Amino acid sequence: MLHVSRLSASYGAITAVAELDLAVADGTLVALLGANGAGKSTTLRAISGLHRPVAGSVTLDGAEISALPLHRVVRAGLAHVPEGRMAVAPLTVEENLRLSRAARRGAEAALLDRVYALFPRLKDRRQQVSGLLSGGEQQMLAIARAMMTSPRVLLLDEPSMGLAPAIVDQVFAAIVALHRQGQSILLVEQNAEIALGICDHAYVLRRGRVVAQGDGAALRADARVLEAYLS
Ligand SMILES: Nc1ncnc2c1ncn2[C@@H]1O[C@H](COP(=O)(O)OP(=O)(O)O)[C@@H](O)[C@H]1O
Ligand SMILES: [Mg+2]
Repeated sequence: MLHVSRLSASYGAITAVAELDLAVADGTLVALLGANGAGKSTTLRAISGLHRPVAGSVTLDGAEISALPLHRVVRAGLAHVPEGRMAVAPLTVEENLRLSRAARRGAEAALLDRVYALFPRLKDRRQQVSGLLSGGEQQMLAIARAMMTSPRVLLLDEPSMGLAPAIVDQVFAAIVALHRQGQSILLVEQNAEIALGICDHAYVLRRGRVVAQGDGAALRADARVLEAYLS
């Protein structure tokens, strides 16, 4: 479904991602792991068009999307939840969700039902101004907003960052539920233990390059994974 081929991205003279190959098959949860600075966020940003890659190809169901403007990428079926959860603070939870859906035509009520079933907490707080939500609720809202676009592939960048362990469990329970519903997901996560426990396949990045890949069980036993986190 999502195919990334020889993707390279840089910031001026700094190469952050080099000739990266990656694939997310239909309905799978794929994890992208690596130490701080390994190039995980840049990879997601280059895939979704938030950061223009210097080389490489990104295809969704065979169609090249790497040269499209952002709104066309969303329409093609890619939704990116960046690090640090941005909602429109003065709007309520439900206004934020409706605003997100406005980018696409179609069944808004059914989608709202679906995201509220996934995050009952958001349903309770739907009239609450988003700026007053807790960190965990804001992360849930960010994922819910992305889901309102009915993405073919959901890109999640460190959804557990800065959250208390109990809240991390709730956010990951929702990610697992989405996966069970057949949602294709590319998950960037610092916490390799959690990610390897729920993914179908994982890639390990070190200095912008894939140094290991495989299923969760195989990578848990792979010394290169530990190494990738040590430097
Ligand atoms: N806006 C930026 N300007 C310059 N360098 C950046 C910028 N964002 C990231 N980098 C550099 O690119 C590399 C990869 O960063 P990033 O993709 O954020 O890694 P990760 O998400 O794995 O922590 C790092 O060396 C980082 O310092
Ligand atoms: Mg990052």
